[in-house]
Amino acid sequence: MAEFEPVLLANIHKTDSHTLPVYQAAGGYAALKKVLAGMSPVDVVELVKASGLRGRGGAGFPCGLKWSFLPKDHPGPIYMCVNADESEPATFNNRILMELDPHHVIEGIIIGCFATRASTAYVYVRYEYPTAFQRLQQAIDECYASGFLGKNIQGSPFSLDIFMHRGAAAYICGEETGLIESLEGKRAWPRIKPPFPAIEGAFRKPTVVNNIETMANVPHIVNRGADWFKSMGIPSTGPKDPGSYGPKLYCISGHVNKPGCYEMPLGITCRELIDRYGGGVWKGRKGKAAIPGGLSMGLFTEKEFDTPLDFAVPGKVGCLGLGTAAVTVMDETYSMIDYLHNACRFFAHESCGQCTPCREGTSWSERILTRIKHGKGRLKDLDILLSIAGAIGIIPGTTICGLADGAAWPIKNAINKFRGEFEDHIKRTNPTGYAQEEPAEALQLVELVH
Ligand SMILES: Cc1cc2nc3c(=O)[nH]c(=O)nc-3n(C[C@H](O)[C@H](O)[C@H](O)COP(=O)(O)O)c2cc1C
Ligand code: SF4
Repeated sequence: MAEFEPVLLANIHKTDSHTLPVYQAAGGYAALKKVLAGMSPVDVVELVKASGLRGRGGAGFPCGLKWSFLPKDHPGPIYMCVNADESEPATFNNRILMELDPHHVIEGIIIGCFATRASTAYVYVRYEYPTAFQRLQQAIDECYASGFLGKNIQGSPFSLDIFMHRGAAAYICGEETGLIESLEGKRAWPRIKPPFPAIEGAFRKPTVVNNIETMANVPHIVNRGADWFKSMGIPSTGPKDPGSYGPKLYCISGHVNKPGCYEMPLGITCRELIDRYGGGVWKGRKGKAAIPGGLSMGLFTEKEFDTPLDFAVPGKVGCLGLGTAAVTVMDETYSMIDYLHNACRFFAHESCGQCTPCREGTSWSERILTRIKHGKGRLKDLDILLSIAGAIGIIPGTTICGLADGAAWPIKNAINKFRGEFEDHIKRTNPTGYAQEEPAEALQLVELVH
């Protein structure tokens, strides 16, 4: 790999990296000053569009394009909701930025609000992140005291308030419209779209929702330009692929020697992340599988570890996508039955219950997996699971939000890529193949084995 200078994590190892003086000593708020001194909101939107920055929250939607969907000349308020819910399992890059470099994130938010003409930003922070919440609040207070927030920022006509909001401790609070409902004081039930938040979001006003890491990229794009950003990553491969540009925070956890968060240009392979940065698979064992970008993305087999972790390629080996680029490694001793049982338990617990296919599909998947794990599985259960997985989600068009797609992909990938292991387990633990046929009786069996 060519020489790479980290920018997103450049400050985190400094003493008191979370304070304003340390951030400013490293050049912090220079990008904001540049914007206020000579750029219009349209200039900033066009710059971010030109950079090719795609959202880092999971879906990879082009950031500048999203900003351009906001209505022009809207007479009322426009809001920015910053998604710091970080609820995708194994993902912790937002946490590092918020705890160790909160001004970096806030500078990105202020520039983002300038570009989108938002006069109020809400930062919705995961309930389980008290330090991040406290550090961000402290940084916001420093900004008000130093003229970086409030009325007429640095003497310019631009004014902005940022409010912190504590999350409601559920995975679904990270889905952008669930987040907005929760911010409004309601249960985090995702909304049917359209209308999209850009037209009708928080408090029924035009709203832009962006992830913390997405915002942290913005000051660097302003300082160094779109060409610098596009000099990193993987170029577009065709009309359906906007490319994967810029630096990315990759999390690595599970069965590796050096779990952590590492900054690299987009497009590093999963194997390079594991071997070069994660210190290799632990205990001298071989890798068996890896989750490419948060639990909802599915699975790579060991043979697929050479897949680049960009926005396009994980989908080409059957995964849902890059997601949050949080890789979890499983070694050769790990059971895929345990993996899938855990995944199904998570999604059944986190389904908000609004859509019948998601509510029932995730719940039944968990029950079937519990039965398989406890030696009451049938070979035909594998096809039943695949048929559930094929029927739930936005992609088959049966649900309101993507949680159900995220529940489906681990099932599809685990069974299609490791079918032999599931069949062996079922044959070994339930050689007669016997289990009651009726759902009600199957339910009783589940109750027995809990
Ligand atoms: C079930 C579910 C959970 C999500 N959780 C998060 C989250 O914790 N953080 C996040 O930034 N995006 C999350 N997203 C994606 C958001 O809906 C949204 O796409 C994102 O915040 C937009 O920001 P970006 O364009 O900067 O990536 C989630 C989506 C779904 C379907
Ligand atoms: S797909 Fe699942 S989590 Fe999303 S709105 Fe429907 S029931 Fe709720």
